[in-house]
Amino acid sequence: MDPATVRVELAERSYEVQVGDGILADSPAQFSIAPCACALVTDTNVAPLYAPLVERALLERGFEVQTIIVPAGEPSKCMRQAEQIIEQMIAARLDRHSFLFSLGGGVVGDLAGFTASIFLRGIPWAQIPTTIVAQVDSAVGGKTGVNANGGKNLIGTFHQPSAVIADVATLRTLPRREWNEGWAEIIKHAIIRDTELFEQIEATPELDMVALVQRNVAIKAAIVAADEREHSGERALLNFGHTLGHAIEAAAGYGTYLHGEAIALGIVAACRISEWRAGFPPEHTNRVIQLLRRFDLPVTLPASLEIDPILQATLSDKKFEQGAIRFVVADQIGSARVSPDVTTTDLKDALATLRGDCS
Ligand SMILES: NC(=O)c1ccc[n+]([C@@H]2O[C@H](COP(=O)([O-])OP(=O)(O)OC[C@H]3O[C@@H](n4cnc5c(N)ncnc54)[C@H](O)[C@@H]3O)[C@@H](O)[C@H]2O)c1
Ligand SMILES: [Zn+2]
Repeated sequence: MDPATVRVELAERSYEVQVGDGILADSPAQFSIAPCACALVTDTNVAPLYAPLVERALLERGFEVQTIIVPAGEPSKCMRQAEQIIEQMIAARLDRHSFLFSLGGGVVGDLAGFTASIFLRGIPWAQIPTTIVAQVDSAVGGKTGVNANGGKNLIGTFHQPSAVIADVATLRTLPRREWNEGWAEIIKHAIIRDTELFEQIEATPELDMVALVQRNVAIKAAIVAADEREHSGERALLNFGHTLGHAIEAAAGYGTYLHGEAIALGIVAACRISEWRAGFPPEHTNRVIQLLRRFDLPVTLPASLEIDPILQATLSDKKFEQGAIRFVVADQIGSARVSPDVTTTDLKDALATLRGDCS
């Protein structure tokens, strides 16, 4: 098998993730999808950079392309935007034999994948992720969705793509802040599954991005293959740092922190809770903090952020089933599990520590 290919093993829903440098122009050939009428969904930042290249490649292979551009940013992940995409697909006479390509970050991927899953009861789709977050995380695993007033990702489906093409060349145009936030997800993967990856990042500031993305995709693919729909608890490990991270993101007001920045704070809090509940060595927490700092990610909460609203947001999180906290803790860097022992007091204490109230 091509060394830059990771297969996501999901029986008849299996697919391949191709990772490479400069592979965007060949992307339709890599997809091995029969030419048809297709929608190419992208956003206002990504469209001028990469849509012409992908459009040309699709046209050359005999696809008819309807490019649909949504405003960049999280607010586009909403039902109204999904409806507008569908209206444009209908106007372009796309039908149930059509295909959808998403080109962009996690916002475009989640929104376009959701739209593909509901358009005419579902059409196939493929992802061309262009952020680190999307390449190492959101493009793999088939979770699609949009936000509701009540919170993030409250409306969604599982709709696995037919293929994913991750071209690390696209990451070179990422703004610095978006580049850095992606590292929070990479560090999360290393903490839950891969000691050696963590050590590599610690040791080498300049990593080969193809190898790095491929390794992260392999981690996510293995977890998704073991527990596609988050039934056994394995997939829940990917929520490490996300319980408090999502709550901080919501309580601070969307737009204050980028997703990865809020997750960095959630990771530090989860390390503290892991110290108390799973014997995570405090020096491992310090190594995690050092690494997050290297990517200019926040590791302390500002005093202006009150703890109570964060706790409230945590307790209304959809991951809390029937009031029980299923919190992901790490025993050490490279190994994590779901713990039933974490209490709301632990969450409160971890947030206080994160704010520097009691350290
Ligand atoms: N489905 C999943 O399993 C999953 C997993 C993790 C995150 N997510 C979701 O992903 C979203 C976050 O994704 P994101 O961080 O990629 O955000 P994003 O899609 O908003 O992209 C970040 C910014 O970078 C711009 N951009 C994208 N690619 C670029 C490029 N190559 N060059 C220059 N600019 C570029 C975008 O226009 C945007 O302004 C959140 O909504 C989160 O909930 C989903
Ligand atoms: Zn995340």
